Amino acid sequence: MSKLRLRGFEIHKSYLSRAGQRDLIDALRPVLKAAPLFSPTIPGGSKMSVRMTSAGAFGWYADTEGYRYVAQHPRGMGWPEIPSSILAIWHDLTGLERQPDCCLINYYGEGARMGLHQDKDEADFSYPVVSVSLGDDGLLRVGGKNRSGKTDSVWLSSGDVVVMAGEARLAYHGVDRIRFKSSRLLPKGGRLNLTLRVVT
Ligand code: SIN
Ligand code: MN
Repeated sequence: MSKLRLRGFEIHKSYLSRAGQRDLIDALRPVLKAAPLFSPTIPGGSKMSVRMTSAGAFGWYADTEGYRYVAQHPRGMGWPEIPSSILAIWHDLTGLERQPDCCLINYYGEGARMGLHQDKDEADFSYPVVSVSLGDDGLLRVGGKNRSGKTDSVWLSSGDVVVMAGEARLAYHGVDRIRFKSSRLLPKGGRLNLTLRVVT
């Protein structure tokens, strides 16, 4: 395990052991069964290449009307609970009593990417966002508070955890590409990213 900082993004390399990563995948299996992945269509009409779902009281959602948190999966049921092994990462790295009320689960299949964006649909930006990477390597790009500013990139591997707090909390970030099948954690390949957020 080692820690590095990039533009205020705190990157805990190899935070999770291989066994810890496998345990998280096991904990996520019933979550994905109860709340299947879907691909939102974003304002402007294009479909995201990333497939997603959530756990917790709220799930992040997008459609042609905009971006927001909602209390139900698009198929109408509530979101499953956030597994305790995922909450443990939040408590360990943030030291906060308060629990996150959303765990957004993003799945990147071959060719999927996520454009530069800010996480700004939450009510209180004093709470950090904690991001857990599992499976294939992903190239994270990080910038500052302006979309057109300078950016830096770093490869995230399975088991890495990033904390976005302070100057990084509202910084632009995105995932340019993944190295499909670079990891054997997920039998069919791809990358899972979990982001823990306090929404209200
Ligand atoms: C996100 O910004 O929601 C995802 C970041 C990542 O996939 O590493
Ligand atoms: Mn984000």
